[in-house]
Amino acid sequence: MDVILIAAVTQDGYIARHSHESVTWSKDLYLFKEQTMGWPLIMGSNSFKCLQKELEGRDIIVVHRDDSPKEIIENLNTEKCFIAGGGKTNIRFAPHLTHLYLTPHPNIFGSGVRLFSGKTDEMNLVFEATIPIRGEEGLYQFQYRINSDIRHSR
Ligand SMILES: NC(=O)c1ccc[n+]([C@@H]2O[C@H](COP(=O)([O-])OP(=O)(O)OC[C@H]3O[C@@H](n4cnc5c(N)ncnc54)[C@H](OP(=O)(O)O)[C@@H]3O)[C@@H](O)[C@H]2O)c1
Repeated sequence: MDVILIAAVTQDGYIARHSHESVTWSKDLYLFKEQTMGWPLIMGSNSFKCLQKELEGRDIIVVHRDDSPKEIIENLNTEKCFIAGGGKTNIRFAPHLTHLYLTPHPNIFGSGVRLFSGKTDEMNLVFEATIPIRGEEGLYQFQYRINSDIRHSR
């Protein structure tokens, strides 16, 4: 199964200014909605509170601190699922990821919530595709496969 982390990121690697910020600065919400439609969408409780209204009518799995990422993934019976933040959730699912869909935005936050809250293992990414963001010159979603042969543990 493909386990795809999807995020809008700043050029300095942040996904929000703080844990309760709604990501109103991202330009690719329409693409996020299109790509995740019909697939299990996994997110942490903080992100769910921020994105709830945007994602009404979807099958969202909200992750809490006592949940096991491994069990959540093993219980899914689909071709793919999406991990949609935030940083605390992304790091917990990091060992299970197969793909990253990242849209680097023209912002620098300097501080905030990182793509991964904490240290991940090193990942070797293999480029697969870029998707232009509609109506936004110079903005692209970069799609990568994680090369599972080369994961460097810390
Ligand atoms: N730019 C993007 O593409 C994007 C995408 C998604 C989200 N975001 C942003 O990311 C931000 C939220 O990220 P986040 O990392 O703060 O939250 P999060 O990952 O969405 O949710 C917090 C997770 O951490 C757990 N947790 C909280 N305190 C903990 C503790 N002391 N020990 C262990 N687990 C704990 C929570 O469990 P409990 O439920 O049990 O507390 C929950 O599973 C929001 O601003 C959101 O808008 C941005």
